[in-house]
Amino acid sequence: MQVVNSKQELKKALKSYRSEGKSIGLVPTMGALHQGHISLINRCRAENEVVVASIFVNPTQFDNPEDLKKYPRTLESDCELLEPAGCDIVFAPSADEMYPTLPKLSIDFGNLEHVMEGKYRDGHFNGVGIVVSKLFHLVNPDRAYFGQKDLQQVAVLRRLVNDLSFDLELIACPTLRESDGLAMSSRNTRLSAEARKIAPQLHAALQKAKDLLIQGKTAAETQKEINSFFEAIPEFRPEYFEIADFDDLEPIKKMNTEGKTAICTAAYLDGVRLIDNIVF
Ligand code: PAF
Repeated sequence: MQVVNSKQELKKALKSYRSEGKSIGLVPTMGALHQGHISLINRCRAENEVVVASIFVNPTQFDNPEDLKKYPRTLESDCELLEPAGCDIVFAPSADEMYPTLPKLSIDFGNLEHVMEGKYRDGHFNGVGIVVSKLFHLVNPDRAYFGQKDLQQVAVLRRLVNDLSFDLELIACPTLRESDGLAMSSRNTRLSAEARKIAPQLHAALQKAKDLLIQGKTAAETQKEINSFFEAIPEFRPEYFEIADFDDLEPIKKMNTEGKTAICTAAYLDGVRLIDNIVF
């Protein structure tokens, strides 16, 4: 496995693979890797001849400088997970390497910007869109892999690939969960032991809402029950809990019978912002 830090080295590392016409898969990450990321690498390994993982804590997608500062940076242990998983190239650039000048361009994702994550994290998807576009240009992959835990990110990136005609297949992979249901996330390591015990209740809330909608309750009735659910666990500070259409993430009044329903939530617990979703 090669670890490269510059665009030039990355180009060089990819050159021979390209000349042999090998298929290239990309797994973009911000590091602090866990088994959820490794499941993306495994899928990428199975479907491509060359596996590239990027590790870059992208400053332009953080609206909160404290959150950016606290984001774990664990390149060495990340590489220890990537190598046995069959990764060929790790691209781990510095912020100056990725942004010799700060981008002046901004990407408007339309309605997707103004709901859920977009509403609470100003400029977040613009930052994601720009960095992922850069990675797509630098690696030029045949396939790129993202976790469905960030459901809205996947929707935004689908729009990016479609509207800018990136010649690649975007693959969304299922969320990996701990045995108690908590979605795997780099942020989980920041939870205290006490908070970690409570954290799976976020997934339990999603399950409960799903059951209520399937029983025929409206979104408003379901929201009401979920509000009481969270009131009983004051350690949680929910930011949003949205029942939406899977395709455009617009709020819906009842379970979607034509297509899929998505329930998405974000909540603070022990000062850590957790997100999760369920699709059915
Ligand atoms: O999902 C992430 O880890 C990041 O948003 C991504 C896609 C690597 C862009 O920085």
